[in-house]
Amino acid sequence: MRRTLLSLVAAIFTAGSGSADPSGVSQPIIIKFSHVAAPQAHKSKGAERFKALAETYTGGRVRIELYPNSQLYKDKEELEALQLGAVEMLAPSLSKFGPLGLKAFEVFDIPYLFRDTSDLARITDGPIGREILQQLEPKGIVGLGYWNNGFKILSANTPLIKPDDLLGLKVRIQSSRVIEEQMTALGALPQVLAFSEAYQALSSGVVDGTENPPANFYNQKMFEVQQHATVTNHGFLGYAVIVNRDFWKALPADIRDGLERAVHDATPFANAEAAKENEDAMTAMRETGKTAFHVPTAQEREAWEAALKPVRARMADRVGPDLLRRIEAEIEGARP
Ligand code: LMR
Repeated sequence: MRRTLLSLVAAIFTAGSGSADPSGVSQPIIIKFSHVAAPQAHKSKGAERFKALAETYTGGRVRIELYPNSQLYKDKEELEALQLGAVEMLAPSLSKFGPLGLKAFEVFDIPYLFRDTSDLARITDGPIGREILQQLEPKGIVGLGYWNNGFKILSANTPLIKPDDLLGLKVRIQSSRVIEEQMTALGALPQVLAFSEAYQALSSGVVDGTENPPANFYNQKMFEVQQHATVTNHGFLGYAVIVNRDFWKALPADIRDGLERAVHDATPFANAEAAKENEDAMTAMRETGKTAFHVPTAQEREAWEAALKPVRARMADRVGPDLLRRIEAEIEGARP
């Protein structure tokens, strides 16, 4: 009992009320929010909107410090840092939770499962999305919401018109077993690399190709070192906005409410920025002429879908067959 009380008091002093300096003026609670996207990227804009709302909703009792561009931590390190409490908030890609043993997150990587962001919203805004976020808790993490990036294009220095064009190519991927299986199904050789290392690996020829939504290709200048890209839209990239669990639980309830509201209210803005930035990035990259973009014909698209179809069955056990079935039913039930 005494221990519990003591740790409660300690928690309130370290996180809950900010710290009081000797003059009695209370200092704000600092939340370090680290991520790997560029400062001009939509993830940064979403984070900035969250910061403004969070500081307003908590009446200045919280101060959000933003650290974009992997300046504090790269992909794998940032999740470890969050679990250790070295940073309080992150927004990693949903494709990066598998190595923590959270395989359900990789369901978002199943090729051609989601057709558009309305399909996504049916999951991320509903009970299934909440259940997936709840799986974070035993890992010392609380999930506050989902943010979109968009659908991925595939790139290389040779044209990628049909699936076989990837045969034998080394392709940079995120740390998701489903994406690994997707590349294997195409005959490519997947290589997991941190986002911050992707450009260098492409430009030095360590890898031949990659996948990402247009905004990431543009912001990371990958288009400068990839001569060809195909608008396959084969997979989705999205984010979970997450916080260290113990830090979160030690916060006063009204502060938690303010932060939750801030994530919720920043989400439509973050998603709209993502959609706009992906479109603008395509236009800007086409204008430079550095990458030749190919939009598949209906027939070519069928060939990509056929080549990637086996991934769903092969990965069902990994992401959870029941989860996969529920998602399929939710999405397909909503289609006319
Ligand atoms: C990637 O590693 O390709 C992406 O997850 C980066 C990001 O956060 O958009």
